[in-house]
Parts: sequence; structure tokens; C-alpha cells
Amino acid sequence: MDRILILDFGGQYNQLIARRVREHNVYCEVHPHTMSLEEIRRFDPIGIIFTGGPHSVYLPDSPRPDPGVFSLGVPILGICYGCQLLAQSLGGLVTPAEEDSAREYGRTETSFDVRCPLFLGLPGKGVTWMSHGDYMALVPEGFRITARSAACPTAAICDESRRFYGVQFHPEVSHTVFGREMLHNFLYSICGAQGDWTMADFRRRSVEGLRKHIGKGRVLLALSGGVDSSVLAALLSEAAGSQLTCVFVDHGLLRKNEGDEVEAAFASRTLDFRRVDARERFLARLRGVTAPEEKRHIIGEEFIRVFEEEAGKIGAVDCLAQGTIYPDVIESGAGESAVIKSHHNVGGLPPSMDFKEILEPLRLLFKDEVRRLGRELGLPESLVSRQPFPGPGLAIRVIGEVTGEKLAILREADAIFREEMAEAGLDKTASQYFAVLTELRSVGVMGDGRSYDRAVALRSVQTSDFMTADFSRLPWEVLDRVSVRIVNEVRGVNRVLYDITSKPPATVEYE
Ligand code: XMP
Repeated sequence: MDRILILDFGGQYNQLIARRVREHNVYCEVHPHTMSLEEIRRFDPIGIIFTGGPHSVYLPDSPRPDPGVFSLGVPILGICYGCQLLAQSLGGLVTPAEEDSAREYGRTETSFDVRCPLFLGLPGKGVTWMSHGDYMALVPEGFRITARSAACPTAAICDESRRFYGVQFHPEVSHTVFGREMLHNFLYSICGAQGDWTMADFRRRSVEGLRKHIGKGRVLLALSGGVDSSVLAALLSEAAGSQLTCVFVDHGLLRKNEGDEVEAAFASRTLDFRRVDARERFLARLRGVTAPEEKRHIIGEEFIRVFEEEAGKIGAVDCLAQGTIYPDVIESGAGESAVIKSHHNVGGLPPSMDFKEILEPLRLLFKDEVRRLGRELGLPESLVSRQPFPGPGLAIRVIGEVTGEKLAILREADAIFREEMAEAGLDKTASQYFAVLTELRSVGVMGDGRSYDRAVALRSVQTSDFMTADFSRLPWEVLDRVSVRIVNEVRGVNRVLYDITSKPPATVEYE
């Protein structure tokens, strides 16, 4: 299989570059720029991409790759800092841009030399996304300039004979209008990729590999009802069949019908599926608790406890499977920009469990690839395209104390919102949307009577990374229908609010 190596110099778009490459059906991995020449040779890439980064190449301690990388005979594409690195390392000169010269941020009209293989087939002009304070004052010998903008005379360079290409802008971000085509040119025309990265192949290879690895061993998986663990369960059931035990902890904090949907998805498969009804147990632990962090903590802990008890009934297992995916791997330091999010997954490793090793078969996949794999494995669309759902579930969408009654109200209101969003086709465009049961009670009038009931808040956001988010501009007609239905169909609610706060300053969830 063809492999592209992405050497990470600390750019904020490192994951995005990798996702873009894979969207072209070419496999790639992100590695720190400190990867040794020996490791690079062993990786055997058909092409290498240098990412951007926050440094300046002319400073002595700026990050650099092993210089041997330039003698491997492998094509290189340098992006932003990566482009400057290419220039500086091969005899060019990079300097800080002066006030009035080549410093550029944002959308920039750029003209391309379409004879350059990177820009082949493109119109001569297009908008690119720039973000740089340094620029290439002198291009190295053997290179020519292949793009320019009003402010920057050296927006792209290439040395066709060595197959080295550099772009000052970011082809991976969607604002660069022909970025997709440029990456396609690099991967297919320049590196000679075959496009052999497909989920059908991944499935076949993984199942084969897992079968060999697991042998006659027993595998245990905690199923949460989310996309990752469900896809993992389907993959493992194909590889391990009845040697796989899935423990599905039903904590009673899932959305309407979700628990049954998960169970139904696995009903026809060969595996040992155990749904543990822990609803009462969770509610009991949450009684009287109102602080958000305390709720999260209790749920995380209780989840592990239930899982451990269930695992205890099975006895010793050989492997514990986990649904770790590639962004988690990159974020925990496999790439250069080791931003470790204190991410809030319910779970963590049960300390006293008896197993020999951890299996993470999805650790090289991005979320959209996990979904594609799920479809490939025949999981229902309702499960595969499920929107992100927090581990603590509806408990952090019921403000204040969580009770069975409040959960029931929220579940109904949330189901109506989801139904109407799907009906309007907005489920495809909103990144995440849900209902929240607030603590607010207010006066209303229903029929001839006065009511004093609860208010439900609706939240819908647009985001690409969930670090920042904007509220969705939902059509009034949709909001109107949702509001009328909730107030009419859900007892105990007499007011519906729509949340128009972005993140920051708000967060996506309420608690
Ligand atoms: P916030 O509220 O932090 O949410 O803006 C960002 C994204 O993370 C999800 N989220 C969680 N996911 N466990 C999870 O697995 C959690 O405790 C948790 N809290 C928030 C949230 O749904 C959104 O997609």
C-alpha cells in the first residue's frame, strides 16, 4: 500500500493535511519532525509533506528534519513553514517580511504557473489561504518560482527534477479554492499514488491481522453506544466471533431508543453481547448531585465499576479492546503539536482488570473513516452517522439534579428536535444539535389554565473541530415546528428557547 509521510513541524493544520490526503484514498501518517532517517526509510513513503509551524527557519533552534531526507529521491511538498524550510535547507534565503512587503494573513488572490506539475489543470488564478510573517527572499538553485500574490513574489516554488515543491499558502484548508486539486496533483502525478486506501481493504487487512493476533484468545470490549465503540464491536465480531464479549453498560442516560438500537444492531452477529441494566444504580448515585464536574466524575467512576463487575463474571481475558482513533493518537503526542486535551471520555482503564494486552484496531483512522468502515461492515446508518454524544450523556443536559422524570422529559423533547431536524434535512449540515432541560420554570397559559412549567433550550452548532463553534442559523419555520410540537407533546414543558451563543464564550454542552 502507498504511504505518504507527513512530517510535523507544529502546525495547527497537521491533522487536516492528513485527512485531506486520505480523502484522496492515499494512506498517510503524521510523525514528529524528529523522525530519524532510518525510520523514514523503513516507513518507505512515496512522498513526504512538511507541515507548517509557528517557528522561523532562520532561527538557530527552529525545528528541522534529518538533512538526509533531501537525498532519498522521494518527492517533497513543503507547506508554509515547510516550504521555507525547503528553501532555507537547500541554499535559499528566508527573512522576516517587512511591514509593507510579504506578510500575509487570510484569503489572498494568487496567480499560478500552470506548467508546474502541482498546478497542472488549474486556472491561472485563484484564492489561497495565507498565514505567514516570513518569506523567501532568495529561491535555491534548481528551483523556480511558480506562484505569486500582490504582496508575495514567491508564493510557490518547484524543482521538477528533484520533485521538490513548496507552497507558501495552505492547500489543505477549504478557503484555498484549488487546494484539493493541488494535493491530488502532488499525490497522483508527482508521487504516483494508486489510490489504494479504501475501507474495504482496511476491513479485509484488519480482520486478517486481528484473527492472527487474537488466535484462540478472549477479547473484551466496553460498548458505549457511540460510533467508535460500535464500529469496533462490528469489526471485532468479524475477526473474533464468539470469542468477543461486548459489555454494553446501559446507564439510562442515552437518548430516546438509543439503547435498543445498539442492541438491535448486534442481534444478528456472532458475539457474546451483554446489556447491563444499570439505570437505577446511576440514578441512585446521582441523587442530590447538582455540580457538573461531580456528575461527570460519578458517572465515569460508576461506569468503570459496572464494567469491572461484569468483566469479573467473565474471568480472565486476553485482550481488552479500545476505540481509540487517530486524532487521540496525534493529540497525545505522536505528532509535533502535542496539545493534550483533558478530554472527557467516560472510561479509562479499570485498574484491577485481568487482561494481557490492549487492542486498538481503529487507532489509525479518522472519524469520517470510522464511519465509512461502519457502513462497510453493514451497521445501520442511524448508528454510523450518529452525532457526537458526551460520555456522561443526558446527565449534563439536565441542569441541576438528575431525576428519572427530568430525563424522560428531556428524552422526548430531544427526540422531537432530532426528528424535525432530519425532516428538514438539517441533520446533514448541523455539526451537533440537542435539547437541554433547564432549571427555569415560568408561567404560561394553556387552554383556559395557567401553567408553571419547565423551559427546554435547543442548541445547534456548526464547527469543524469543536474547539470553537458558531450557533446554527436554523430556519424560523423549523424552530417554530419544534417549539409547537414540544409544548404540545411533552408534558411539563411550556416554553422553548433557542440558544444563540457561540463557543467561546459558551461551550457546546451546558455543563
Ligand atoms: P464542549 O461542551 O466542551 O463540547 O464545548 C465539545 C464537544 O465535546 C463533547 N463533550 C464530551 N464528550 N465526554 C465526551 O465524550 C464528555 O464529558 C464531554 N463533554 C463534552 C461535546 O458533546 C461536544 O461535541
